[in-house]
Amino acid sequence: MSSLGKDFLSTAVLSVDDVFELFELASWFKSNRHSHPPMFPAVGRAILGLIFLKPSLRTRCAFSVAMLELGGKPLYFGPDEVEFDSSEGILRTAATLKEAGLDCVLARVFSHDSLELLASSLPIPVINGLSDLEHPTQAVADFFTISERRKDMRGQKMCFVNEACNVYHSLLFLAAKLGVNMVIAAPAGFEPQRAVLEQARHLARETGAAIEVSNSIEEAAYEADILYTDVWTGMGQEHEREWRTRLFAPYQVNKRVVSLAKRDVLVMHCLPARRGEEITDDVLDGPNSVAFDQAENRLHTAKAILRLLLETSIHS
Ligand code: CP
Repeated sequence: MSSLGKDFLSTAVLSVDDVFELFELASWFKSNRHSHPPMFPAVGRAILGLIFLKPSLRTRCAFSVAMLELGGKPLYFGPDEVEFDSSEGILRTAATLKEAGLDCVLARVFSHDSLELLASSLPIPVINGLSDLEHPTQAVADFFTISERRKDMRGQKMCFVNEACNVYHSLLFLAAKLGVNMVIAAPAGFEPQRAVLEQARHLARETGAAIEVSNSIEEAAYEADILYTDVWTGMGQEHEREWRTRLFAPYQVNKRVVSLAKRDVLVMHCLPARRGEEITDDVLDGPNSVAFDQAENRLHTAKAILRLLLETSIHS
């Protein structure tokens, strides 16, 4: 039985058993892509509401196709169709979704607090499709991608190059639980908050994973097993693009940075990438890159997450 509660808002709530169950399921879905609907009746009868206050290609596609291939139905709601600009609006949205007969909701929102309010107002599972705090479905796909290549992840060194953003937080909590040493290379002023580091170090107490912070990309990338980067200007930060591009320029993942890491380093990116900014073409398309496998694995892990949440909720 999964220790995951009703919702999946953060990787911090996953137990190590949950993670390996998700990997096992994702692996099975990947090898049996078109032969699984009858095996999971709860998902096969389910309707998944997809709320996207921000654009998405991979997350929307992965969860929509996952539902369709499992026999269920996805229903999309864009930013103009839901009320998320006040607590009252979120409560009205939740009340409507409750009456509409949905079985599960995935929401991509601006503020994590709004997601928590939605989840606490709904009796059905809510999945975080990206908030300002976390991107947990991405991190599950990423560690699944690593697990396909590294039998034992414990002791691997993951270097995350960027500010401490939502993707970093979700990767960090999983790394801590799985015994993966995590170092972030971020400019001064863009390091993780103390509370986040404390939470990660608390989660790492059983595995002994090292949680480190550096302002030097050279130091952080040295002998790394995994190099991960993300865009310097996220959704909603477009007005900051000019100064961000200048500030983050020394943090580009390019051939020189890759040469500091281990020879078989996995280069990762959650996509979409701004080629020539946070990562160069030759690295993103190079032999060490697994970025497009990460994108493919969004589908298989989406099915695993839906299966774990929906089959559990129907039996509880
Ligand atoms: N990586 C990711 O979440 O992609 P989308 O923004 O396209 O969903």
